[in-house]
Amino acid sequence: MSSTLPTTQKALYLLSPKGTFSVAPNDVSSPGEGEVLIRIESAALNPVDWKMHDYDFEIPKYPFILGLDSAGVVVAVGGGVTKVEVGDRILHQGLGNLRQAVFQEYTVASEDLVAKIPSHISFDEASSLPVAVATAAVGLYAPKAKDGGAALIAPWKEGGIGKYADQPILIIGGSSSVGQAVIQYAKLSGFNPIITTVSPSNNDLVKSFGATHTLDRNKGLDTLGESIKEISSKPLTVIYDAISLPDTQNAAYKILADGGTLILVLEEEVKEEDRVRGKDMVTPWGNPPLQGEFGKEIYAQLGAYLENGDIKPNKVHYVPGGLSSIPDALDLLRKNKVSGKKVVLRPPQTV
Ligand SMILES: NC(=O)c1ccc[n+]([C@@H]2O[C@H](COP(=O)([O-])OP(=O)(O)OC[C@H]3O[C@@H](n4cnc5c(N)ncnc54)[C@H](OP(=O)(O)O)[C@@H]3O)[C@@H](O)[C@H]2O)c1
Repeated sequence: MSSTLPTTQKALYLLSPKGTFSVAPNDVSSPGEGEVLIRIESAALNPVDWKMHDYDFEIPKYPFILGLDSAGVVVAVGGGVTKVEVGDRILHQGLGNLRQAVFQEYTVASEDLVAKIPSHISFDEASSLPVAVATAAVGLYAPKAKDGGAALIAPWKEGGIGKYADQPILIIGGSSSVGQAVIQYAKLSGFNPIITTVSPSNNDLVKSFGATHTLDRNKGLDTLGESIKEISSKPLTVIYDAISLPDTQNAAYKILADGGTLILVLEEEVKEEDRVRGKDMVTPWGNPPLQGEFGKEIYAQLGAYLENGDIKPNKVHYVPGGLSSIPDALDLLRKNKVSGKKVVLRPPQTV
């Protein structure tokens, strides 16, 4: 590794179960075979960050470093790396461990799981994408049994672009980060109409991504079926519930057509007595670093989609103060104070 790179860095540690956070030093890792070392310029927050803290889940050992969404610059490459080079601007999804987490200044990733950031997208914007894109793409296109996807033909596969032309799709929560990415993949897949539930203040936002019809999510879920029939009389065989609270799941399941698939982002909560044969449910896990081949497929296409504007980033809500700002910023997500935006910070600003 270059002698100009630091050997230690600042990281935000979660010290104990449900406990406090503290900025302290961590080693800067050397990239292994096929890996790159990234200087993180921007990191974004996800609901899972506060959930892991508050519910003490998926954390094998303390102290622990959280953080999944990253955008930065390649500063060193390991042996055999051919797809990226030092100086490339890239985005990627981290993994919860001291070496690969994102709430620190440097991290490592496989060269197969990074995407180059085109010059028209800032680091802040780019950091809004990894988890959302992965969760959307896995949910729509990954194999059912293996990765929890609906097994639709992906737009990057032969015949995949526009494959579902003139079939309706409903996306519950189109202004969420995951929802925004689902709308954009649905557009690539040809779905039409693309119907989504949002607060009216986000109507223009979701239409800018490709939604054709918006339904006011504050009007309640009882009339969802009738509202959709006014837009399309075709069977609704794909619903992506990007919110997946018990009420949205149950409402979505009721209006799903026979033979259809309901894609959920949280655990299934559909009432046992309402379940029928022939209506499928899947729960994707948007985690390319642990997803093997499908994760690589997503990243093999992502750079081109960003370059040509097929996939656009979230609007961002930037918080100053670097890693130290994270504990308070997580409260914005915890208290549902974020609408249509991704909360982003810059690790190099940490004092
Ligand atoms: N399975 C996985 O791998 C995976 C991956 C990522 C996220 N998730 C989960 O997916 C959920 C969404 O994550 P996210 O990062 O996309 O969230 P987010 O961007 O923080 O969500 C905020 C948005 O949710 C919308 N919203 C909230 N309640 C709604 C409702 N009842 N109906 C419609 N829209 C609603 C709000 O819309 P308006 O402001 O327009 O009202 C707001 O824009 C979280 O529970 C998260 O933990 C799971």
